[in-house]
Amino acid sequence: MRIVSVVGTRPQLIKVAALQPALRRDHEDIFVDTGQHYDDAMAGNFFAELGLARPDHSLGIGGGGHGDQTGRMLIALEPLLLDASPDAVIVYGDTNSTLAGALAAAKLGIPVAHVEAGLRSFDRRMPEEINRVVADHLSTWLFAPTPAAVANLATEGITAGVLEVGDLMFDLAARISAEVRGPAVLAAIASRLNLAISTGRYLFATVHRAENRSPEAMAAWTALFEAVALPDRPVVLALHPGTRIALETAHIVLPPNVIVIEPQGYRTSLALQLHAAAVLTDSGGIQRESAWLGVPCLVLRDTTEWVETVGGPDSSAVLVGLDRSAAIREIDARAPQGQSARQATDRAAGLRVVQAGAAERISAALVSAEPPVEVGT
Ligand code: UD1
Repeated sequence: MRIVSVVGTRPQLIKVAALQPALRRDHEDIFVDTGQHYDDAMAGNFFAELGLARPDHSLGIGGGGHGDQTGRMLIALEPLLLDASPDAVIVYGDTNSTLAGALAAAKLGIPVAHVEAGLRSFDRRMPEEINRVVADHLSTWLFAPTPAAVANLATEGITAGVLEVGDLMFDLAARISAEVRGPAVLAAIASRLNLAISTGRYLFATVHRAENRSPEAMAAWTALFEAVALPDRPVVLALHPGTRIALETAHIVLPPNVIVIEPQGYRTSLALQLHAAAVLTDSGGIQRESAWLGVPCLVLRDTTEWVETVGGPDSSAVLVGLDRSAAIREIDARAPQGQSARQATDRAAGLRVVQAGAAERISAALVSAEPPVEVGT
């Protein structure tokens, strides 16, 4: 098949990196980058690091409000799709680039394949929820990562074209985590970033969601970080440029023992998770990665689409929202200070993450323009 892949943000570049080898072996793949993420730290670095081919088309559409950004993407994608005349358009996840790719294709009658179909937070205030609901309802192929995602689609009356394929990011994490588990990897990162950190004696954090960029939310999570950061257990915060701007605009200063670093490439981010005492994040990708690595993860949200990772007391992730006491309690329970260095060392040494084959399943399902077999009726 001739396929156009539409991506634009950092997590989508990671997903494409996992799918591209199988896709390019089996199909003609035209790779379009909307440019939603444009900083080198957010996008550029990922190409070399993940062996990703350069996009065939870079649209250079970043910044702006949601409607403005999505609208400009639609305007740019329509002539491109008319010209390329693909058999299918693949979109990934739940960003504005996903919405634009799905909408532009569907309006032209081109079948859409949605990777990470069926995820729901059941919170329509999140821009991502709107994007994923629309993309799912426009798609011919719905590649669901989990049984819960298949069930969500069935609840909305979508069963045709649904395939449970597993999680693309899992396969990449399996490959790369094996390369970053040695203690020397963390030492090299610490030296490059000029960080005084060692295995199990720091917390790794990211915050980027729109709902965590309001002044009230930023005041709450900075106070939470202050409560859990210690001189000998700093919080290492890889700061999204959008969050950095929001903090500056609200004149919020980060507390002591919170060390800000630039957003990191995939390998470094995975290594910083694996060797941390615990992770604090509002990112769905990092929540899953830390679960696969077995690292305690405090999710700075009240809901999650990845319900499997927060299943109970034995699960590695837990929703704490922006609740300080819950964060202290969960870190003390899951990564007690006296044990966290040993825990992290043992975790890295014993790590075994085996690839599950999501990329192969997706590529194989795209063999004809007909939707695949129906499941989960
Ligand atoms: C987007 C996705 C979100 C995803 C996240 C991953 C939507 C609605 N949101 O959020 O689902 O989890 O990507 O990171 O699509 N900015 C820069 N440089 C960049 C990119 C962004 O400075 O390279 C700043 C700009 O001020 C921009 C703001 O961040 O306006 C927000 O960026 P945007 O791409 O709209 O959304 P994200 O917050 O990155």
